[in-house]
Amino acid sequence: MSINAKRALVTGITGQDGSYLAEFLLDRGYEVHGLVRRSSTFGTQRIEHLYRDIHEMERPLVLHHGDMADGNGLARLIREIRPTEVYNLAAQSHVRVSFDQPAYTADVTAVGTLRLLEAIRDFQDAVGYQIRFYQASSSEMYGKVLETPQSESTPFYPRSPYGVAKLYAHWITINYRESYGIHGSCGILFNHESPRRGETFVTRKITRAAARIKLGLQKKLYLGNLDAKRDWGFAGDYVEAMWLMLQQDEPDDYVISTDETHSVREFSEKVFGRLGLNYSDFIEIDPRYFRPAEVELLLGNSQKARKKLAWQPRVSFDGLVDLMVDSDLALARKEQVLLAAGHETGLPNR
Ligand code: NAP
Ligand code: GDD
Repeated sequence: MSINAKRALVTGITGQDGSYLAEFLLDRGYEVHGLVRRSSTFGTQRIEHLYRDIHEMERPLVLHHGDMADGNGLARLIREIRPTEVYNLAAQSHVRVSFDQPAYTADVTAVGTLRLLEAIRDFQDAVGYQIRFYQASSSEMYGKVLETPQSESTPFYPRSPYGVAKLYAHWITINYRESYGIHGSCGILFNHESPRRGETFVTRKITRAAARIKLGLQKKLYLGNLDAKRDWGFAGDYVEAMWLMLQQDEPDDYVISTDETHSVREFSEKVFGRLGLNYSDFIEIDPRYFRPAEVELLLGNSQKARKKLAWQPRVSFDGLVDLMVDSDLALARKEQVLLAAGHETGLPNR
């Protein structure tokens, strides 16, 4: 394989961001390699459409089995693929789950990043060309915020095992940049959503349930803290920022956000309102969804990315609600048809 070819390795390619990033890179002529962990069921739904399309083309999307817990496997893949860019999106990414599985979260999300950086470092030493590395850092690192809005210079105060693991991954990327000259950039991304968002994250949980309630497929929606505020953007806009970071001559860290904040209650009100429903008639509070320590408010300041990367979000808060509601309404309609035909459907237990 030629070193001049644009060749990206994406960990977490089966996730929300991985699927949008793979689309984005394929559109720009990259050969895209994705890390997929073995599962007893198919986990590639979000990239099926890409995989189907490429059978007509010359195989620019290649999937490899691997796991962030397996450093030898990661090193072997780096040697085999010889990527020019690596996007590290793989993580146990659910904050609530990280309280139940703190050691697993640390292993995959924190030490997994170290394993990947070690593989890159060894490869660079042996081969002598530089791989550009993107680390998926998170606004969850700000936790109990020490400043509002939060920018690259705001001190961190993580409030969950996930936030702590992400902070390790963030700093080890900076450390490898400063110690070994790795071209590593961290995107401190605030929450970003889409119709492909996992169904246990709050926005998707709300749009999926509201659409089902509208069609009579569900009666109630159980949520936790409605007063938490988040800076929610559209995932499709945010993957462009990841790519832009790796096109810079110098590696650096950037906040990516809409610079607006809204509460879970406000999001619910908009979603149900758009369907002609009143959210308070359907939402009930279930203490199981509260967290041992909560992040009450996130609000980004993305001025650095807007200036240096010429990046800006295209989809507004209302636009995001529309995208997600339309998509989940279409999904609920399909479910309704299946039910009418006597097929079993159902939501995952969360
Ligand atoms: P996501 O939908 O949960 O996707 C996570 C990806 O990581 C999936 O492809 C998952 O594979 C993979 N993964 C999990 N454990 C793994 C392991 N042990 N080995 C290999 N792969 C593994 O997350 P996302 O929303 O796309 O987010 C992408 C990244 O950005 C994550 O690192 C997340 O923490 C970070 N982030 C997200 C946001 C946000 O608002 N979305 C904000 C800031 C940072 P399976 O499909 O097999 O589960
Ligand atoms: N998931 C969930 N489920 N959250 C709920 C619920 C519920 O039933 N009810 C209220 N919430 C509140 C949570 O307590 C939290 O304050 C807020 O909704 C958002 O929760 P999530 O959608 O689960 O996202 P998150 O902010 O905890 O984490 C996401 O964003 C981070 C960036 O700040 C994830 O994508 C992380 O991977 C990401 O790093």
